[in-house]
Amino acid sequence: MIRVAVMGYGTIGSGVVEVLDINKNSIAKRAGEEIGVKYILDLRDFPGDPIQEKVVHDYKVIANDPEVQIVVETMGGVEPAYTFVKAMLTAGKHVTTSNKALVAAKGAELIALAKKKNVNFMFEASVGGGIPIIRPLNSCLTADEIEEITGIVNGTTNYMLTKMTEEGSEFDDVLKDAQAKGYAEKDPTADIEGYDACRKIAILTSLVCGQQVDFEDIHTEGITKITATDIRYAKTMGRAIKLLASSHKVGDGYVAMVAPFLLPATHPLYNVNDVFNAIFVHGNVLGDAMFYGSGAGKLPTASAVVADIVDMAKHLDTNIAVEWSSKKLELVDYRNVEN
Ligand code: HSE
Repeated sequence: MIRVAVMGYGTIGSGVVEVLDINKNSIAKRAGEEIGVKYILDLRDFPGDPIQEKVVHDYKVIANDPEVQIVVETMGGVEPAYTFVKAMLTAGKHVTTSNKALVAAKGAELIALAKKKNVNFMFEASVGGGIPIIRPLNSCLTADEIEEITGIVNGTTNYMLTKMTEEGSEFDDVLKDAQAKGYAEKDPTADIEGYDACRKIAILTSLVCGQQVDFEDIHTEGITKITATDIRYAKTMGRAIKLLASSHKVGDGYVAMVAPFLLPATHPLYNVNDVFNAIFVHGNVLGDAMFYGSGAGKLPTASAVVADIVDMAKHLDTNIAVEWSSKKLELVDYRNVEN
């Protein structure tokens, strides 16, 4: 049996435990061995829940247990996730994370550390939830020069814009609705200001160019200024307002940004509604490809995390690292790009 530890038993972490249980047999077949959860790291206790016997409060228990080979990080935020993940990799454990803030800020460093320790650091769930996009960029699309990635990568804001379009509602009302449905956090800043999408496009651009793209360098505008009147005007013009995260190749460089755009009905992202995500990719030999599906939520995101676990279980002795050097890529300023 391969022993796994899950750090952070929130929505995604508990989803990972659930998926490992629901598909136990097929996962064991694919991984070559049964996968069992040995520890759950969380600040809380879960009295009455069978998982309580696995709960630990100190990450060092996991780092120091040689039986644990794979660690899942689903805590979110840069710290303490960064400290914990670094400790796990240093201890020779494979790590998968759904945490885009961590990957955008420390991806290059953690990939290099994993390589040095001959383990893997994987993060399929960090962008697009359950939609495969990290692996396609790292393997299926490596014959191409990727000239454009444009995505709807934030489910919460896409849900809000869809509601505003369908019902003519005002921003504040749809935000309350998104919070009531559990899409938007109590503090919705990261979603509505575009910071979440910004980190996701920073990760995708880093993968495409093989260098560190600093998310602070990406021009980022959210949807807080969009009103019901804007949406009405857009509809009159036969267009939809969508929050896009985009990066384009310009000469030898890349320009990247997050902003609301007016999309014509002919655009492949026009019909991507509700909490769905979609990522459009254009390669110089491939042409166009589009990745569409459940971009957020417990089980879709856990599905991507567990796929990483299976991949790592199959490569326990091999580093299958992606190219992502810590050399910073200077983005081209979008204001200097002619249309
Ligand atoms: N807050 C994110 C979203 C969660 O709404 O898309 C998935 O990264």
